[in-house]
Amino acid sequence: MDSEPTFSQTNPQAVAVGQPLSRVDGRAKVTGAAKYSAEYNNLPGLVHAVIKTSDVAKGRITSIDTSAAQREPGVLAILTHQNLPKPAQTAESEEGKKAIGPSTQMTFMPLQSDQIFYAAQPVAIVVADTLEHAQQAAAKLRVTIAPEAPIASYQDPKAQLFNPSKEPGGAAEGTKPRGKATAAFAAAPVQLTATYTHATNHHNPMEPGATVAHWEAADRLTVYDTAQGVSWQQRALSVFLGLPTDQVRVITKYIGGGFGCKGPIWPHTVLTALTAKAVGRPVKLVLTRPQMFTSMGHREDQEQTLRVGATKEGKLLAMLHEKHSTTSQWDEYAESNSKIVGMLYACPNFEATTKLAHANVMTPSWMRAPGEAPGSFAIECAMDDLAAQLGIDPIEIRLRNYADRDPSNGQPWSSKSLKQCYQRGAELFGWNKRNPKVGQTREGKLLVGWGMATASYPVNTSQGNARVRLYGDGHAVVQVGATDLGTGTYTIITQVAADSLGIAPDKVRFELGDTMLPTTIISGGSMAAGTVSSSVYVAAQDVWQKLIKVAVADKKSPLYRAKPTEVEVAKGRLQLKADPAKGEAFQALMQRGQIFDIEGLGQGHVGADYEASQFAGATPSGKSGNAKKSDDAGVDAAAGHSMHSFGAHFCEVHVDPELGTVRVTKWVSVIGGGRILNPKTARSQIIGGATMGIGAALMEQSVRDPNLARYTNPNLADYHVCTNADIPDMTVEFIDEKDPYINAMGVKGIGEISMVGTSAAVGNAIFHATGQRMRNLPITPAKMLEAMRPSQKA
Ligand code: MOS
Repeated sequence: MDSEPTFSQTNPQAVAVGQPLSRVDGRAKVTGAAKYSAEYNNLPGLVHAVIKTSDVAKGRITSIDTSAAQREPGVLAILTHQNLPKPAQTAESEEGKKAIGPSTQMTFMPLQSDQIFYAAQPVAIVVADTLEHAQQAAAKLRVTIAPEAPIASYQDPKAQLFNPSKEPGGAAEGTKPRGKATAAFAAAPVQLTATYTHATNHHNPMEPGATVAHWEAADRLTVYDTAQGVSWQQRALSVFLGLPTDQVRVITKYIGGGFGCKGPIWPHTVLTALTAKAVGRPVKLVLTRPQMFTSMGHREDQEQTLRVGATKEGKLLAMLHEKHSTTSQWDEYAESNSKIVGMLYACPNFEATTKLAHANVMTPSWMRAPGEAPGSFAIECAMDDLAAQLGIDPIEIRLRNYADRDPSNGQPWSSKSLKQCYQRGAELFGWNKRNPKVGQTREGKLLVGWGMATASYPVNTSQGNARVRLYGDGHAVVQVGATDLGTGTYTIITQVAADSLGIAPDKVRFELGDTMLPTTIISGGSMAAGTVSSSVYVAAQDVWQKLIKVAVADKKSPLYRAKPTEVEVAKGRLQLKADPAKGEAFQALMQRGQIFDIEGLGQGHVGADYEASQFAGATPSGKSGNAKKSDDAGVDAAAGHSMHSFGAHFCEVHVDPELGTVRVTKWVSVIGGGRILNPKTARSQIIGGATMGIGAALMEQSVRDPNLARYTNPNLADYHVCTNADIPDMTVEFIDEKDPYINAMGVKGIGEISMVGTSAAVGNAIFHATGQRMRNLPITPAKMLEAMRPSQKA
């Protein structure tokens, strides 16, 4: 890999791709011109809705007194289960769930009956001419609920753990067992058993969930929503509302962070559409910050018990993983921690079990690296423990268990640069200066610790469409119904389009966030960059195929009567492969032929279907598709490969032994994420994910009262996320990695690997600093002090 030439040398098309282009939407954002979903205020007759929620987590509504609320100025409607129009379909039936599709997460729809299942469940929607009027009326609305004792979590004595009946939400499938884990563990010369807990976490994007629903006709709806995927939202809404898909339009031009919570469709979006129908006006609903804790899912509170059996040389023999977590009354959601536990290292014997308990909470959901983030905390802390117990360096023990193939399915990796990540990370961090003994390094009164952890995330496969329209004057409009979470989709796709068309990025207008545009995957599962970039690249090839046909038929073209297969395109110039001097720029060809514009369509192919492109690292000039013929004779290469990104995080902490505070003082992340389209936005992705991981490690916890099952800290004053002052200047590097199997652009997606392993790196650094193995997240000062109490050490 190291000796291979860089991308720009192998692909003459690449000018913009790989450059640290600043955000093309940066100016719109800093000037306020970027319109977020809650900012569509100019719709005729727009009115405001607020949700009134239940104070209790379980019970039954016994009375609703609207009289005082009705008397408030500006009130247009008070909608409850008694008078809100019913959805055409909900996800509560198997049929509805199937029709709504992959965005189904919470199957329960509030405001359909008098039953209360979770705290802050919507009990009414108040609509008024202004937000303030709606809030005031909601405050005057009296909803009386007869409370019952709720179940707060899987730890509640009333809770009953059960095995999930099937594989819900694509999340609890776990990893297939292999070997004989129980027997191999029992026979292992070295055994470790430990339980790791993870607090409930909430995504807390800057931009809260918001919906503006506008019925443009009785059967035609436009929704401005905070959606990570407009087409998922469109499909779901059409089923909920009983409309043909084409009569629902969803628009999401800008998103202020999602982290998974804007991936599925949640009840408030459907309820806003129903409310708009009921009042006959466009309706805006913006969730309050407290409502963000009870409206768009969360990472579930959970514990994992990991048993590891190894040789005295630190080679893994067996792993048994068991996870317990809380889910809602109706759904069996659990993030699948065992996926990463089962695939990260070579280990012949493995078994995982998941148990859930129904509680009076809303359904948990995807949160950045669902499964991998908490799962990596368990396996990566266990590896660190094993290393310490056996006196082996933490990197060395990982190398001894390096998986040359995916241990969970035996497949070769499509690409894997993990060894380079360890090596480069260690170099950047100065790992060789690490004192192997714990609790030995001090800076003044502070204890200093160094820790590291492995990261991995699957290259999830998906398909999506793109449309490219190239104008004869050298401008282009590129359209994909994708979304930009704020992480750079606008920018990276502009770069890919520019190079694919051989024009400068400022000649490209990239449009996204609208179901009127070609359908693609959501910005989730780290799929958007790979899928959208590949589909745009393929759409551009469609443009070239059409223009080549024009050229070879054009008597005035230097390419007249050439065979189309003998023509190549380099930086927008159509030329003979054998004689590149013979050719012309597309502008000349199009202008001469009075071709105003030309359109290309493309699908971002994945896995078995795709043909490797120049971008993916295949040899240029007509050898595209050669990646399919792999070393596995007769096996389709893409389908037969396990596709993952890998990385390594290195962390230094300072622990104050008197205050119990932990400060991250140094950070290095090195990632092998396939082709990096833009090192600037990519670096931000890694910094963001690592910051979120540090937050999960040290601060983030949604506290649910064990008696009332109500969140006691649903606000950003009491739910702590990292601020700039909590995070050091981070060092981020990417390994130059070519992967010809994953998609046409060779892009793996880095939105989630950035978070995987990060909390373990922090925990391992704390262990190195203090000798205390902290297994309960978040590692608060109180927990640190408790662990470091001198009486406990004695
Ligand atoms: Mo992410 S949790 O796949 O939006």
